[in-house]
Amino acid sequence: MLLPRNIHGCPYLLLAPMEGVGDRCFRKAIATIGGFDEAVRDFLRVPRNAHIESLAKEYVADELNPIPLAAQLMGSDPELMAAMAQEMEKRGATRVDFNCGCPSKIVTGRGAGSSLLQDPRFLQEVASHMVKAVSIPVTIKMRSGFEDISLFEENLLAAQESGVAYITLHPRTKVDGYRPPARWDLIARAKQILTIPLVGNGDILTPQDAERMLRETGCDALMIGRGSVANPFIFNEIKAYFQGIPYEKEAHSLSTYFATYLAHVPPGTTPRTSVNKLKQILNFMFKANAPEKNLEMLTTQSVDPEEFLKLSLSLLLHSAKA
Ligand SMILES: Cc1cc2nc3c(=O)[nH]c(=O)nc-3n(C[C@H](O)[C@H](O)[C@H](O)COP(=O)(O)O)c2cc1C
Repeated sequence: MLLPRNIHGCPYLLLAPMEGVGDRCFRKAIATIGGFDEAVRDFLRVPRNAHIESLAKEYVADELNPIPLAAQLMGSDPELMAAMAQEMEKRGATRVDFNCGCPSKIVTGRGAGSSLLQDPRFLQEVASHMVKAVSIPVTIKMRSGFEDISLFEENLLAAQESGVAYITLHPRTKVDGYRPPARWDLIARAKQILTIPLVGNGDILTPQDAERMLRETGCDALMIGRGSVANPFIFNEIKAYFQGIPYEKEAHSLSTYFATYLAHVPPGTTPRTSVNKLKQILNFMFKANAPEKNLEMLTTQSVDPEEFLKLSLSLLLHSAKA
């Protein structure tokens, strides 16, 4: 059972891959709060000239020990993707995910990420090469289509036929980007089409959203990305919600979260870059809790990360919604 339920019917909860924002600093920080059952690392791009072994070193299977961290690969060369999946298995991955959703031009221009959704047979070929190469589960994370959803069903079936263990669906097309709202009705439709398990993803911001996605779509597990950057307690809140108890945030949790974040900024990072990194995640928190407050003003005021953090947190905590 790859996606076991938690107690009280709470679904298996996955932390979404988020290249740039959801890097190692963020994963380490949010792991101090916990509540998610598994995380997916942001994609490792596997270009045609990839040097598999050196590229593979970027993946550290026990980074969040004891929480498992799946590896995600993005590329379109069947042999290279299979070789890279093997390398991930050697490095201790318990699951390899195949990215069929990234909308970036650099990526789609080379026929990887979401552009694979234009050719279901090819998507199937790459995925089945990966599946055959390893003994760990291979999964696919996909969008609902490239320009439109005309190949939605074909892509789902092609993915399933490749032998992947399950599919995670972010129900927006490549053209949609991150807007308009994720089409949960497509998660429900996918659930009708597939016989393998399905992870629902997109726009879960509260425990109520989580419960509603589960109920409205019948999906088997939930993945959360931006909602966890805006509120790193969301996974614990969802678990408490399913148990019918309130979730009590511990006062020091947020300080531990940020201290851990800063402790994992790579050595040699300038204070300004650290401040900009902090700003990336704080922007999500501000948008959700204090949209009227201006973080930009603080960025120019302070280049000391600790000082910047202190100022921005007091601004956040004294805002109306926090
Ligand atoms: C900054 C950012 C980076 C992302 N990077 C990845 C990635 O590396 N791999 C991937 O499959 N999806 C990536 N995604 C998509 C998310 O995993 C997720 O599918 C999407 O944000 C919708 O879920 P959410 O509404 O819970 O954020 C990224 C999203 C964002 C916002």
